[in-house]
Amino acid sequence: MPKITYIEHNGAPHKIEVSNGLTVMEGAVQNNIPGIDADCGGSCACATCHVYVDKKWFKKLKKKESAEEDMLDMAYEPNKFSRLSCQITVAGELDGLVVKMPSKQG
Ligand code: FES
Repeated sequence: MPKITYIEHNGAPHKIEVSNGLTVMEGAVQNNIPGIDADCGGSCACATCHVYVDKKWFKKLKKKESAEEDMLDMAYEPNKFSRLSCQITVAGELDGLVVKMPSKQG
């Protein structure tokens, strides 16, 4: 199973295995990782699953849909490495992915 590292805004890392086919958000929620609330359950409507993707990984992800772009515009302090973790599906090529949560999601 791909290993994903979630880093809390305070720097605390959580490295966990997430099954292929789950989203990065679902991996966090199922493992009680703090900082990803996912209030809308993954329907791209809340931005409480906002993460900053490590820059070496960012370009390996599939492109954002326009709904994700729109929601990220409303997220807290988005930057060019921002993604909604509910829109990233885990697959073998994402083994080693690193994401960091924004300071507001503590
Ligand atoms: S869980 Fe709501 S936008 Fe991702």
